[in-house]
Amino acid sequence: MRLTYTSDLWWKNAVIYCLDVETYKDGDGDGIGDFRGLTQQIDYLNSLGVTCLWLMPFFPTPNKDDGYDITDFYSVDPRLGTLGDFVEFMRTAKDRGMRVIADLVVNHTSDQHPWFKASRSSKDSPYRDWYVWSDTPEPDDPKAIVFPDKEDSLWELDEKTGQYYFHSFYRFQPDLNVANPEVRDEIARILGFWMELGLSGFRVDAVPFLIENVGDKLPDPHAFLADLRAFMSRREGGSILLGEVNLPYKDLVAYFGDGNGDQLTMCFDFILMQRTWLALARNEAGPIVEALSARSKPPKDSQWGTFLRNHDELTLDKLSDEERQEVFDAFGPEKDMQIYGRGLRRRLPSMLGGDLRRIKMAYSLLLSMPGTPVIFYGEEIGMGENLDEEGRMAVRIPMQWSRSGGFSDATPVRKTPKGTFGPERVNVADQKRDPDSLLRWFQLLIERYRECPELAWGENTVLKTGHPAVVAHRCDADGSTVVAVHNLSDTAAEVELVLKDLGDRMLTDLLADETMEIIDGKVRLPMSPHGCRWLRAAPREDMPPEDASITAQ
Ligand code: GLC
Repeated sequence: MRLTYTSDLWWKNAVIYCLDVETYKDGDGDGIGDFRGLTQQIDYLNSLGVTCLWLMPFFPTPNKDDGYDITDFYSVDPRLGTLGDFVEFMRTAKDRGMRVIADLVVNHTSDQHPWFKASRSSKDSPYRDWYVWSDTPEPDDPKAIVFPDKEDSLWELDEKTGQYYFHSFYRFQPDLNVANPEVRDEIARILGFWMELGLSGFRVDAVPFLIENVGDKLPDPHAFLADLRAFMSRREGGSILLGEVNLPYKDLVAYFGDGNGDQLTMCFDFILMQRTWLALARNEAGPIVEALSARSKPPKDSQWGTFLRNHDELTLDKLSDEERQEVFDAFGPEKDMQIYGRGLRRRLPSMLGGDLRRIKMAYSLLLSMPGTPVIFYGEEIGMGENLDEEGRMAVRIPMQWSRSGGFSDATPVRKTPKGTFGPERVNVADQKRDPDSLLRWFQLLIERYRECPELAWGENTVLKTGHPAVVAHRCDADGSTVVAVHNLSDTAAEVELVLKDLGDRMLTDLLADETMEIIDGKVRLPMSPHGCRWLRAAPREDMPPEDASITAQ
């Protein structure tokens, strides 16, 4: 693999780290995280090895949906700092070679946004058509209601003008009317503004909603995405759109831009994520194999974003009712852990019962999957959730820097958990000193992932293992091969992989100090409970001699 390619198309094997400025590090002692605090942690992020930061919304907001309800797209929430602080942060991240993307939430605004205030002020307002109004809304499809605990309709009557406005999410988040060319121009202006300040792209919130609400009002709603992408590419060739598109594969591919890849640069792979949770619940490789076999290769230069958890509920909406119940039973049996009837408001380490071997295996699996891994802050140290926080806030708790918490000198706005997953036991400072910690494991995985661009760029083939709990896949690019093998169960296993075309090579385990022979086109691999191996096929002459330590003297 030529490194020049991987730096031009940097997103194809980036390691993306999602964080909320509000909960990462408080720099001014008011109990709320801010840009000054975050900037002080850049060296930590750099040493972790992540290459791109995804900032959750940091714009002015009434904060009724944790910042996903924006009142000004061109500024910084004063609680988090100033534009000056933002620029200082960007400069520091750039100095350490890290890119930054941010949430682009333009499906809707806050109902407190001046545009909406103007829009609702009168039917004749120049902003009226910036939102979606109707005298006689269509009856609601209950399945379309995203937050059924709080909403029972997608339309809200506005008393003053007697019309209903459309909201895909909460009623305080009116949908923008992207069929209006002025709105589309404004969205491009927002992208242009933040790109000028150094952003390398955006995580695009709720993309199918954005497209769908244009419906039949535009000849081709997807052309809007293509236009945005073209606009960005004109301004900055290496900028990306990473889309939140939770759809079955067959519907999702259109969001890359049907074969030619001119729309979203990357899409999150919600299907693989959900099938992986099913696989973890069953300790069976099958669901992962199905997803990998079903998903198509993204168009040239595009990429999948792979993840196991994010800032929202662990949505299991694409599993069958029975499958979802299996995951609930395994990882969230209590009602309070479940949310919206489709998901869990928990973090991965607590769902896996704090079993370090299993947690390490799960993240090894994630990073070995074909795609670009996206990590949610705190995953690298194994943070749990705090179910005392409301709804999805349970997983959006302060980062745990030290035994006392270390997030803020004041009382934090959101509370850390107590006990097994509290900061006394799970924190950055302790794990930095412990060579066997999850943090060290993450550093190793990220380093290896970056050394193995085959994983993200290569041709991916699922291998037969003959063992129900062991999943194996190989990734080939430019004549080099990496094979990844993971044992989902807590009992040891032995598998045989057929690697006929690699008969003249040896396998080096990149996660352990081991080499293996391929004999008659096959290799036998003992797998420890929850064991994982990343095997690079290398010519025999490149192998260290068996008594390397002696010859080296
Ligand atoms: C996306 C976000 C979620 C937010 C919603 C509305 O799904 O991930 O957190 O509530 O959009 O903006």
